Amino acid sequence: MNYLKITGGVRLHGELEIQGAKNSVLPILAATLLNAGESVIHHCPKLQDVDASIRILKQLGCSARWEGNTLTVHTQDMNCGEIPDHLMREMRSSVIFLGAILGRCGRAVLSYPGGCELGPRPIDLHLDALRAMGARIEERGGYLHCSAPKLQGCEITLSLPSVGATENVILAACGAEGTTVLCNAAREPEIVDLQAFLCAMGADVQGAGSSTVVIQGQKKLHDCEHRVISDRIVAATYLAAAAAAGGEILLRHVDYRHLSPVTAALKEAGCTVRSHLDWVQLQSSGGLRAVRPVRTAPYPGFPTDAQAVLMAAMLKSRGTTVFIENIFENRYRHVDELTRMGANIRTEGRVAVVCGVPVLHGARVRSTDLRGGAALAVAALSAQGESVISELHHIDRGYADLAGDLARLGARVARVDEDEKI
Ligand code: UD1
Repeated sequence: MNYLKITGGVRLHGELEIQGAKNSVLPILAATLLNAGESVIHHCPKLQDVDASIRILKQLGCSARWEGNTLTVHTQDMNCGEIPDHLMREMRSSVIFLGAILGRCGRAVLSYPGGCELGPRPIDLHLDALRAMGARIEERGGYLHCSAPKLQGCEITLSLPSVGATENVILAACGAEGTTVLCNAAREPEIVDLQAFLCAMGADVQGAGSSTVVIQGQKKLHDCEHRVISDRIVAATYLAAAAAAGGEILLRHVDYRHLSPVTAALKEAGCTVRSHLDWVQLQSSGGLRAVRPVRTAPYPGFPTDAQAVLMAAMLKSRGTTVFIENIFENRYRHVDELTRMGANIRTEGRVAVVCGVPVLHGARVRSTDLRGGAALAVAALSAQGESVISELHHIDRGYADLAGDLARLGARVARVDEDEKI
């Protein structure tokens, strides 16, 4: 097992370039399947979830090669539409491959994506939408057997704007005959990035970023190159870290518009935030005040993925901040670990009430999930003494180099490999 050792109480200063967005690159890697050829993906973050996607692509007969942060995928030799259970379980978003496989070859066999850490994560909306397009989907022995010799474009309305279901429909619709109109689509920037990739490949997808996406299927596709947008949740993590620890940081290659609900909360807490086109700068004295209730919501609302890191930043604030988690049922697993550091948090159902405390102290804590793990690092930076954060495999799913990035900002942080003694 690996650990992060963080000694808190050091202000953060410096500049960082933000990695490519995990939630963009995963559907883009699935989308490479639609064209039998080459896709060159720049600004591709090196993450465990990207490695898991590459393993799935290889299982399907494709190949992938890294050169720096560019990943080149060859899909012409795709020879299979089956993803075995152990690969599906590695990553929940493996289900996005379903739409792409159906769009390319009309037949897919895969199991339900892995166990849940944030509460139930059903895929009923994905399956209903694909069925509406003509796919036959049967469940046998824990596997979904999907066949769609002829996918047909149609009008689909999602009952809620699911990110993954939106992506699956768009991918399947690229291979379907005729026009698909997707209503109540998710509007996340990562969907816009998926549209940009698909259009670069020759597909006809319009409207991403709004709640109606229109796809004309069966366009002639070709090789393409694409640069992945920057990860707004990684950026939000570092802004929260500097807000909590104090200091001044500049993040480059971020679209400040993607971060506005997070920067609005940090400004309300007393930070000074300046931004322009592709950079955001934050200054903080480290002494924050409580903010109005933070309600997570689909984009452009406050992102559920930034809830834990903002909570960690508010632990020492003056006053009481209420968090209301509206997307996932079980997204407060980091709370018990933060409490070990002296935080005063009460949760009931979807609500968490954070009463600011004057001091946090370093502790041995355990990452419970990807963003919860990052939240522990944020809290540790503003705690007195040393914290040891374990279960880093959660953090590695979404942060290419959390320890390195924080060290570049001046934090006292070290990553300890499993065979070293701590
Ligand atoms: C994506 C993101 C994840 C983020 C989440 C919400 C990726 C790889 N992951 O996850 O980081 O936290 O969006 O912004 O992009 N739901 C159903 N039935 C379905 C699908 C979803 O009931 O078929 C529900 C879910 O249980 C959840 C809500 O819809 O309550 C939102 O989920 P969804 O937008 O689908 O999230 P993901 O695509 O899994």
